[in-house]
Amino acid sequence: MSFFETRITKLFGIKYPIIQGGMGAGFVSTAELAAAVGNAGGIGFMSAIQWENDISKLEDEIKKVKDMTDKPFGINMTLFTEVKPEFFHKTIDIMAKHKVPAVESSARKPDPWMKLMKEAGIKVIHKVARIRDGKTAERLGADAITIIGTEEGGHPGAERVSTSVLGPLMVDTVKVPVAIGGGFCDGRGLVAILAWGGEAMVMGTRFMCSKECIVHPKVKEVVVNMAHNETDFILMSLGDPVRAWRNPVTQRILETEFKHDKDDVMKELIAIRKQSHEERMAVNTGEVDTGLVPAGQVGGRIHEIKSCKEIIDDIISEADEVLKKLSERKYWKA
Ligand SMILES: Cc1cc2nc3c(=O)[nH]c(=O)nc-3n(C[C@H](O)[C@H](O)[C@H](O)COP(=O)(O)O)c2cc1C
Repeated sequence: MSFFETRITKLFGIKYPIIQGGMGAGFVSTAELAAAVGNAGGIGFMSAIQWENDISKLEDEIKKVKDMTDKPFGINMTLFTEVKPEFFHKTIDIMAKHKVPAVESSARKPDPWMKLMKEAGIKVIHKVARIRDGKTAERLGADAITIIGTEEGGHPGAERVSTSVLGPLMVDTVKVPVAIGGGFCDGRGLVAILAWGGEAMVMGTRFMCSKECIVHPKVKEVVVNMAHNETDFILMSLGDPVRAWRNPVTQRILETEFKHDKDDVMKELIAIRKQSHEERMAVNTGEVDTGLVPAGQVGGRIHEIKSCKEIIDDIISEADEVLKKLSERKYWKA
């Protein structure tokens, strides 16, 4: 058995335990990215929510990814409460029709969609930010769980617990395999995850800064130049926090969140939130100072835009190197 073989590599039929998490703030995780990650030995998830306005485009995207790779890929279903249930039903129908092998679901309890996806023969990895949500997803039939810590870009949990606490705790709590994300970009991280008992590493920010990701070059530029402490944790007061690169928009949101009384905050935040949804398209237009650029703290450790193959190959050779060095250390009992 190869060192990198885990229950998750077997579940998805992939070479390395590396997952590109779905990213749907504008067009981020499209066919280009999923195919590149798949061809490099991991699995990439395209976010269905990107085609919320015209779900038929998801079918085109599935055909596109199949033209670009014969390796496994998946669809991310972020179960936002504000999205109509019909959208998720249609997404599942499309996935069943095109025999999409895997889904990464997230954002809330995957009921009743879990049953429908399992009936369609789809392998489901459900992403959570709280231990109790992981337990619920296992009970509902998830094949695997992803646990993400507060470091992550996108929507980390409101409880603000770090990956190093949540990862091993999730592994100890469920029987299904656990993937761990939030703050990873290299081979040292992969070895740490395997040492915690995790069975795959999930990355978003690192893959957003890949050559194949279609976000605007200015977005990749700000992330590769940011420091680890240059993200803001915003919209906490709406109970649905977002971690994004610090800019005038995140600062304005934070100011509103903390300076006014509750009624004012609710009114302003609802307005800002609506605006933010449009502003999220900044990842594609490159308007990085007037829009939101979701990014994790790990952006402070990413300094180069590489291809997905380079990213994954470098992770694997660094992990090999780390393991070699560790095995050369004198065993402490000797
Ligand atoms: C730009 C961006 C958008 C994201 N959008 C989503 C999303 O729509 N749904 C989701 O489940 N996760 C989303 N995520 C989270 C990623 O799938 C992944 O869990 C996370 O990025 C891992 O942490 P990292 O950023 O530290 O690598 C997003 C992340 C980023 C950076």
